[in-house]
Amino acid sequence: MDRTDQKNYTAAIREAAGIIKGGGLVSFPTETVYGLGANALGPEAVRKIFAAKGRSPDNPLIVHIASMPELDDVADDIPQVALKLAGAFWPGPLAMILLKKDIVPHETTGGLGTVAVRLPSHETARALIAEVGVPIAAPSSNASGKPSATDAAHVEADLSGAIDMILDGGPSPIGIESTVADLSSFPPRILRPGFITLEDLRKIEPSFEVFDGRDPRPRSPGMKYTHYSPAARVIVFSGEPENVAAAIIKTAGENEKIGKKTGVMACDETARYYGGVRARVISAGSRERVNDIAFNLFRVLREFDFYGVDIILAEGYAAEGLGFSVMDRLVRASGEAALKV
Ligand code: TXA
Ligand code: MG
Repeated sequence: MDRTDQKNYTAAIREAAGIIKGGGLVSFPTETVYGLGANALGPEAVRKIFAAKGRSPDNPLIVHIASMPELDDVADDIPQVALKLAGAFWPGPLAMILLKKDIVPHETTGGLGTVAVRLPSHETARALIAEVGVPIAAPSSNASGKPSATDAAHVEADLSGAIDMILDGGPSPIGIESTVADLSSFPPRILRPGFITLEDLRKIEPSFEVFDGRDPRPRSPGMKYTHYSPAARVIVFSGEPENVAAAIIKTAGENEKIGKKTGVMACDETARYYGGVRARVISAGSRERVNDIAFNLFRVLREFDFYGVDIILAEGYAAEGLGFSVMDRLVRASGEAALKV
């Protein structure tokens, strides 16, 4: 950054912090996705987040802090395992659910007695939180139900007019959200898979589990709402690559016959299979690098909307490691329309 940029950068952070201190809304970059930030301790400010996104008020927000000591300001009875996980993964894409302190209003936690806390690694995010001087509540900065925003243009498309400022920090380097881990009961559980994988977490705490449908303890309230859905309908196909390609080619043909504009979400290894298909084919990256697929996922879903396709036929991924999180997003985007072929 040259000196002029540094000056502009500092001025932009100050302006954004002023807006949040005054009870307004600022969209800001984090390493995962853009966040829609407000003062986490101000009930009025937090209500504006729900209104701007069209989000249900029972869906709690993640509270973002800039340094470790701030954890004690918002969370109570912090277990040893939380400190171990913070040591391993903070700053970074892990949100930890802990008992909340009274200072955190129920508006922020959707009425729950717990709070999700995250210390992001993105420099701009941390500079902003530090400048505001209080924790920032921030959901992903998209209209409720849409794919998360991974750059400023996505935020503008969904929320312009409804928020006070967008702090443009370029594309979010990870592109998929944080892992939400519940540490408020034992054994600890992943409520939302994200960039930090189950395998990563088990290296620090071997008892980690992933939420499964039979668990009587509640899941993240947010998981019951539709998510990540572009305007186009999405169908996910999983199986052997040749079978997946054959099923997609067949389905694309059927849709073409009834006059539907089709999109195929392929990868570098398979994009050429679809050369003969009348469809908009976009590669999400190489299967060999799932990080790239995660980085491109939301952007590509939004790109299909830009081209006005009616239906997106998406290749699935092996549901392990980060692929598990990618598949979670794709299957939700499809409204659970995932086909084994
Ligand atoms: O990467 C991220 O986590 C991004 C960036 C901006 O930090 N934020 C994000 O927030 O994805 P959001 O609101 O889109 O997703 C947060 C998820 C929701 O499913 C919500 O229900 C869950 O976390 N959550 C938040 N607080 C919770 C709590 N106290 N108990 C259970 N689930 C909680
Ligand atoms: Mg979200």
